[in-house]
Amino acid sequence: MNPIILITGATRGIGFAAAGQLAARGAQVIIGSREKDRAVEAAKRLGSGVSAVALDITDVGSVKAAVAEIDKQFGRLDALANNSAILLDHYQSLLDLKPEVLLETLNTNVVGTLRVSQAFAPLLAKSNAPRIINVSSGAGQLDGEPQAWAPAYCISKTALNMLTQQLAAALPHVMVNSMCPGWCRTEMGGSDAPRSPGEGADTLTWLALEAPHDLRGKFLKDRAVIPW
Ligand SMILES: NC(=O)c1ccc[n+]([C@@H]2O[C@H](COP(=O)([O-])OP(=O)(O)OC[C@H]3O[C@@H](n4cnc5c(N)ncnc54)[C@H](OP(=O)(O)O)[C@@H]3O)[C@@H](O)[C@H]2O)c1
Repeated sequence: MNPIILITGATRGIGFAAAGQLAARGAQVIIGSREKDRAVEAAKRLGSGVSAVALDITDVGSVKAAVAEIDKQFGRLDALANNSAILLDHYQSLLDLKPEVLLETLNTNVVGTLRVSQAFAPLLAKSNAPRIINVSSGAGQLDGEPQAWAPAYCISKTALNMLTQQLAAALPHVMVNSMCPGWCRTEMGGSDAPRSPGEGADTLTWLALEAPHDLRGKFLKDRAVIPW
């Protein structure tokens, strides 16, 4: 049975690269986007085995509708890749950060991921080996020197990592992990980044398809566990 894998925010960047890698390995991939037309177009570019769903992770109605659509079409979900995120405060100082920007960032990157994970938990429960991959970032790591770059984004990725641990505890039969793609050439990462979107997507693809199911509650980069 081909695994059924939903990737949020997958019309471009790392999500789109992961969709291509997973489809090439025989998975049935569902591309999520706030704009259905954009998702349909992206799915067409990848060819057979890829479908599209409208999914705004900040909108309860949109999430519910996506669950209903995927339930009707496939009846289960084998992997959920929570890839969607926003970065609004690139070079902003924490001292000037508006609380609204932090709230908006947390609402997408953390609350949105929780909302989608909660909503798809029943469909994941119908899989023999369900997986959740939260696309996080080294920007959220707590083991290094204090950093000043993009405070709202960094705070959101640290919170996302705790969400990963909480989900792993709450869903003992689901393999739940965070991963960092590294700095990649995408709309978010910019053109100076050293990695291609495909290189960034590799660990996501591995976690979604091949990594051992008992590897859970971890933070990974380049297919290896890294410190939180
Ligand atoms: N690029 C890097 O260097 C880098 C480094 C570390 C971590 N990451 C992480 O990797 C992931 C992918 O990043 P990327 O570089 O590929 O970014 P990107 O090109 O900006 O793509 C982000 C995607 O998020 C989606 N999105 C935003 N708000 C959404 C919402 N409310 N609901 C649903 N989807 C939403 C967008 O999809 P639509 O507009 O189609 O809805 C967009 O396709 C993110 O989690 C990011 O934090 C990236």
